[in-house]
This record gives sequence, C-alpha cells and structure tokens, in this order.
Amino acid sequence: MKKLFFAVAALAIVATSVMAQSDPIATRKATMKKVGEGAAAVGKIAKGEAPFDLATVQAALKSMQDAAKVMPTLFPDTSKTGGDTAALPKIWETKADFDAKWAKLGAEATDAAAKIKDEASFKAEFPAVGKNCGGCHESYRAKKS
Ligand code: HEC
Repeated sequence: MKKLFFAVAALAIVATSVMAQSDPIATRKATMKKVGEGAAAVGKIAKGEAPFDLATVQAALKSMQDAAKVMPTLFPDTSKTGGDTAALPKIWETKADFDAKWAKLGAEATDAAAKIKDEASFKAEFPAVGKNCGGCHESYRAKKS
C-alpha cells in the first residue's frame, strides 16, 4: 500500500512539472489566480469587511512567495500568444525587469511574513507588498476591455 502511495505521489509530481512545461499559460494563470484569491481575502480584512485573521494573511503571503519563485519560468518564447493570455509582449522585451519585479515581490512578501504578527503589524507591513501587484500589471498585463 505504502509503495503504491509513493508511486502515485511521484506520478503526480511528474504530471505537474510536465504540465508547467507543456502549458505555461494555463499554469501561470492558475498561479496568479491563487495569488488573487489570497489577496482578495486579505483585501476584505484591510477594508474591515472581515475580521483580522493571521492565518489568512500568512497564506496569502505564502502564495505570493510561491508565485515569485515559479512565475519567471512560465514565460518561455513559445507562450507569447494563445490560451487567452493577458501577458503583454513587453514581458519578453524587458524580461530582466519583469523577473526583477517577481524577485521584489518574493522578498517583500517573505519580509512581511516574518514581521506580521497581529493586526497592527499587518496594517503597517501589508500595503507595501500589495503595491507590487499593480506595479507589474500596469506594464505587463493587458487591461480587460
Ligand atoms: C512581476 C509581474 C506581476 C506581479 C508582481 C503580479 N502579477 Fe498578477 N499577473 C501578471 C501577468 C503578466 C498576468 C497575466 C498572465 C497571463 O494571462 O498569461 C497576471 C495575471 C493576474 C491575475 C489574472 C489571473 C487569471 O485568472 O488569468 C490575477 C488575479 C493577478 N494577476 C493577481 C495578482 C496579485 C493579487 C498580485 C500581487 C500580490 C500580482 N498579481 C502580482 C504579472 C504580475
């Protein structure tokens, strides 16, 4: 039974990495969607529409850190168009700047995760992290019409 479990788990890992390579557009959209869901939950707390919850905030920061690691690998030259992507051509023209923005998000989310322990530290630390989202979308993501 144990052996079977490991075999299945190993297959799942292989399938995930194959998917990332064969369909980077779907993978990056799904990755961003997860970040967006975490940010929306945190946004409700920030607006006072939901009570402060440290686990929700930390989970959102974790998904940002995870995204910052994988996102730079999900824009191969073959993925400029197709799959309903909103990625702008500028990504491939200034890829170093684009990747640096991911590194910045990752570093700031990691830093905030260490500092945020309660509502006061959340209010002090989170807004700066959130600015990274719009800061990148403005240059590199097509606006929905
Ligand atoms: C360094 C650039 C960058 C940063 C930082 C960034 N994004 Fe994105 N985001 C993108 C790009 C590019 C797309 C479009 C991907 C595509 O359609 O292929 C996108 C797409 C999205 C989407 C749409 C996903 C879908 O369903 O197609 C959401 C939601 C989103 N981002 C939320 C966020 C949030 C929230 C943050 C901040 C915590 C953030 N993003 C930070 C570049 C970035």
